[in-house]
Amino acid sequence: MISKPTIPVPSKKILVVEDDEAIRETIVQHLQIDNFFVVQAGDGEQALKALEHFSPDLILSDINMPRKDGITFFKDVRKHPQWAAIPFLFLTSDNSPTIIRLARELGVEDHLTKPIKHQELTNTINARLLRATEVEVAHIGQAYLETVAVLANAIEGRDNYTRGHVDRVTKIAMWMAQELRWPEDQMRTLEFGARLHDIGKVIVPDHILNKKGKLNEAEWELMKQHPVAGEKILMGISHLHAVRPYVLYHHERWDGCGYPEGLKQREIPLEARLLSIIDVYDALTTERPYHPPRPHEEVLKFLELNAGKHFDPDLVLVFHKVMQMRTQSAH
Ligand SMILES: [Fe+2]
Repeated sequence: MISKPTIPVPSKKILVVEDDEAIRETIVQHLQIDNFFVVQAGDGEQALKALEHFSPDLILSDINMPRKDGITFFKDVRKHPQWAAIPFLFLTSDNSPTIIRLARELGVEDHLTKPIKHQELTNTINARLLRATEVEVAHIGQAYLETVAVLANAIEGRDNYTRGHVDRVTKIAMWMAQELRWPEDQMRTLEFGARLHDIGKVIVPDHILNKKGKLNEAEWELMKQHPVAGEKILMGISHLHAVRPYVLYHHERWDGCGYPEGLKQREIPLEARLLSIIDVYDALTTERPYHPPRPHEEVLKFLELNAGKHFDPDLVLVFHKVMQMRTQSAH
């Protein structure tokens, strides 16, 4: 009885390139049993011709073949942009380290040594196909994030006074996260959280956003809804769920007097406590409709005075340290 593949990937298309007909037939039979759609070629030249009409999900190729050998075939495949991402496995009877090293240097993902065992063939192919799918999903995720970042920039562009705000806030937030030794995935979320934190301002009309002087009560009420509005926008995108704390809670205050939920101290997610310091720092040091820019030192003092009131006191210390380090290294 043939055991089932560990990760079944039905109806994927495989191109098998092998000059030895008996070996090729065995491989094709194995793959057909596993429900793969297989196209065969006897050498590299035939395989290149096949590729003109057939887009495989994976190529399995012998190395030593007449006319065009496996290495030359692999190089030809990688020259074509539309074929460059197809996973490629070598079949080799020569298990010498030299050939394996050469294949690896060329970027071949894996190899199988003849005689091929059915289970090993299945497992190796499924592992490669799964990896290719993961890479594809990651690319789609990246595309999502880029799309939303474009939207965030468009929103920022409406507000004459905050141009550059998002870039500056993101830069300082990354410095702080480095100082706090956040892991890489948390840093990545931070970057998008910092970029997108004010995305909910899409609900605030231009005349309120750019109003000189104080907002009236109704305008202020609308402005205060931007964290909740932002959360609603982003929660529709599964890739962005992790940025929720930045978007929803960046206007909460340590003393519980912030909005939208009036959370206190460590009830406020760490991400939002960190972002709120930088957000306020940047707002105060740059020109706004309602105030001129205030000097760096003066704003640092303001943050210290408000440590334990508006801001997390520990994070204000970290902010201070990071700003001192970075401004010193800039001179
Ligand atoms: Fe905000």
